[in-house]
Amino acid sequence: MRKPILAGNWKMNKTRDAAIHFILEVEPKLPKDNVDVIVCAPAILLRDLVKRSEVIKVGAQNMNEHDSGAYTGEISPVMLKDTKVEYVILGHSERRAYYNETDATVNAKIKKALEFELKPIVCVGETLEQREAGKTNDVLSNQIKKAFDGVTIENPENVIIAYEPIWAIGTGKSATSKEAQDSCKYIRELLTNIFGENISSKIRILYGGSINVKNFKDIISQEDIDGGLVGGSSLKEDDFVELTKDCLY
Ligand code: 13P
Repeated sequence: MRKPILAGNWKMNKTRDAAIHFILEVEPKLPKDNVDVIVCAPAILLRDLVKRSEVIKVGAQNMNEHDSGAYTGEISPVMLKDTKVEYVILGHSERRAYYNETDATVNAKIKKALEFELKPIVCVGETLEQREAGKTNDVLSNQIKKAFDGVTIENPENVIIAYEPIWAIGTGKSATSKEAQDSCKYIRELLTNIFGENISSKIRILYGGSINVKNFKDIISQEDIDGGLVGGSSLKEDDFVELTKDCLY
């Protein structure tokens, strides 16, 4: 039995005051057990969030693959550990599209995250063009194989994949629960081929892309979908609380 996850990706949103307000508002209303609730926030907010939150676990949205050095503007795994951050999103499609993140850098970052015992949330997903050309599985296969090339997984409970079809992100047009399940099932098959069933059956696979309080219950109830990575709806306190409850179906 995989424990469900509700992970918010705030992207480049919220000031310190708004972030603290969110924690104070949301935490008392959260289910205490049976769901891992995570907020992935801008780096500048991480320390305050770690300090203030008791139930919510804190994640970064990116991480450099080096321990330290001349990488202006970057945040290292050493710094995330020092801040007591637990999770880190890697390979989000916005970072792949706007900041030149490649399968090779995602691979290096996964290795680094695991070395530092940070829990990676690895994002994969196809464009609309690729889906319409019938290439979704090819894209997922390529991304998963390259992301996990040479990676050893000792604690599969600490590795998370997020299937985020790019055409569903921020568009208001979520994948159907069947489309999401089909892709998440395929991702699990890929993981079985690489790591064996004992490991793949314990890795949690999330769906992300225009999740809201109306569509999430149907999505989370699918067999291979263990939770959601939520953008827009994670910014609103009430919606976020509702979504965590949907995880306890
Ligand atoms: P939306 O929920 O706003 O579509 O964003 C999804 C996402 O990119 C989460 O990482």
